[in-house]
Amino acid sequence: MIRQLFASAAVIGALSTSAFAAGDAEKGERVFRKCQACHQVGDNAKNRVGPVLNDIIGRTAGTVEGFNYSDALKQAGEDGIVWSDEHLHEYLEDPRGYIPGNRMSFAGLRKEDERDDVIAFLEQYSDPDAVAADHADQEDSSNADE
Ligand code: HEC
Repeated sequence: MIRQLFASAAVIGALSTSAFAAGDAEKGERVFRKCQACHQVGDNAKNRVGPVLNDIIGRTAGTVEGFNYSDALKQAGEDGIVWSDEHLHEYLEDPRGYIPGNRMSFAGLRKEDERDDVIAFLEQYSDPDAVAADHADQEDSSNADE
């Protein structure tokens, strides 16, 4: 019985991270203040302490031109990490744990809804086709989990 409870909790957990984010971009703009010390988005965005986050969805990790990434983040890109809602969730929850050795000095966003919201905010600065394809992929993979 207890086992079953754990098992269904795990399923619910998996569904809520893979079901595509119903984030609120307006709230995400406020969450993004935590990122702004290091990152810019929008028309005149420039690389600062961290790389520009325009077009993040569908971008291979570690590939903004002119930004001096850590070896760890470049390696993550070479290993095939392409930023998606799902990868962003994992990275933003625990940047150091997800890509050990990367240089983003940020503790992470513990709350899932904060991550959903900031990702929804960032999606506005990405190619809408890439965002739609990412959401479609997630629907496929959440069906596959069932
Ligand atoms: C203290 C500065 C700092 C803060 C705060 C910060 N970042 Fe970063 N971020 C970085 C740095 C530096 C890198 C590059 C890390 C590397 O090369 O290892 C990075 C990398 C990234 C990447 C990977 C980009 C790529 O091109 O592969 C994403 C996505 C990202 N940050 C999102 C965020 C978001 C969203 C927030 C806020 C919730 C945030 N960061 C907060 C400094 C920061």
